[in-house]
Amino acid sequence: MLKETVNLFKNVYQINPKSTYFSPGRVNIIGEYTDLAGGLVLPAALTIGAYAAVLPRKDKIVRFYSGNVGKSIITSNLDNMPFLEADGWANYLKGMFVVLKEYGIHIPHGFDICINGNLPNGAGLSSSACIEVLMGKIILTELGIELSNIELVKLAQKCENQYVGVNCGIMDQFAVCFGKENTAIMIDTNSLEYNYTTLPLDKYELIIMNTNKRRSLQESKYNVRKAEVAEAVENLSTVINFDTLCHLTLDEFLQNKDVIKNKNAYKRALHLVSENKRVKDAYKALQGERFEEFFDCIDNSHTSLKNDFEVTGFELDTIVSLAKKHGALGARMTGAGFGGCAIMFVKKGTAEDIKEKIRVEYESIVGYAPTFYDALLGEGTRKLS
Ligand code: GLA
Repeated sequence: MLKETVNLFKNVYQINPKSTYFSPGRVNIIGEYTDLAGGLVLPAALTIGAYAAVLPRKDKIVRFYSGNVGKSIITSNLDNMPFLEADGWANYLKGMFVVLKEYGIHIPHGFDICINGNLPNGAGLSSSACIEVLMGKIILTELGIELSNIELVKLAQKCENQYVGVNCGIMDQFAVCFGKENTAIMIDTNSLEYNYTTLPLDKYELIIMNTNKRRSLQESKYNVRKAEVAEAVENLSTVINFDTLCHLTLDEFLQNKDVIKNKNAYKRALHLVSENKRVKDAYKALQGERFEEFFDCIDNSHTSLKNDFEVTGFELDTIVSLAKKHGALGARMTGAGFGGCAIMFVKKGTAEDIKEKIRVEYESIVGYAPTFYDALLGEGTRKLS
């Protein structure tokens, strides 16, 4: 794929690139939407993602080309890089130039960039965070500017919040940037402290199941959910003191819940508080090698996302219940939901059989086939050569 990306660059720009980079997608193991309320998340970076080949230019022009979408050169100028609907995917890259400049970084010249990846778009595996962090890493490295990964992650989130207009949390950009082989990352999205933890992948396999129902965060109800959570927080803060919703225990929350008048706002907040507890429980279960308990947390997370946060939908619920029916030990949607991917843990050696059974039944119920990826966990965004 790297070689293909370099060849693509040569074909498109008729010159050799100077450097190459890679940025992964991510899968979230548990802790869904908790990053909207200062909670805990447990994502991991994947070995699939996006490759980039780059050549600095002498002028202020930046040219973008993707081997996956559009397949035409998108040209922009460092002095004026507005969000343009027509630029589609390239807006995620343009936004990084804009936020880095706002941060005070001087970008003296443009670049020719070619991106090419093996991460499905709009599948909930963070294709947007993947290319945001990638672009940030490229700009900083090519200009020889030292900036901590934490700052880069915050800027990538700002790009998505302010330039693209999706009020996402920090999980995706963090996971993409901080990934480690065979490892998940427990992140406290309030303090930004984090710990690496291994998953029992010697005994179990982690499979990603793409429902092939596409969605984009911009189209999804992401911002609506964020507003509903804010309403619950506002109501609760009239009767109880807390710095961030996920710091309330489930008991504290339930004792004060009557102050939340809007039923949806209550259900969204209930999911966040209970999900935060599930992340803690799942993490402890992993440390204690109590894997059944860990899988229960995974299953209960899906139920809560379905009934309380209401972000699953027909395809995700179908694939998760088929996974359980055919022998998955734990299964849940992953990412923002409304389509995209789910994950399942299965006993080593049983994956092929379970996948086949799900495939057949899912296709007959939903009308089209799902896609499976064996989730290999890899390193974060980096320069390759
Ligand atoms: C998207 C957002 C993340 C997170 C998840 C849901 O992927 O970008 O910040 O909120 O949804 O857990």
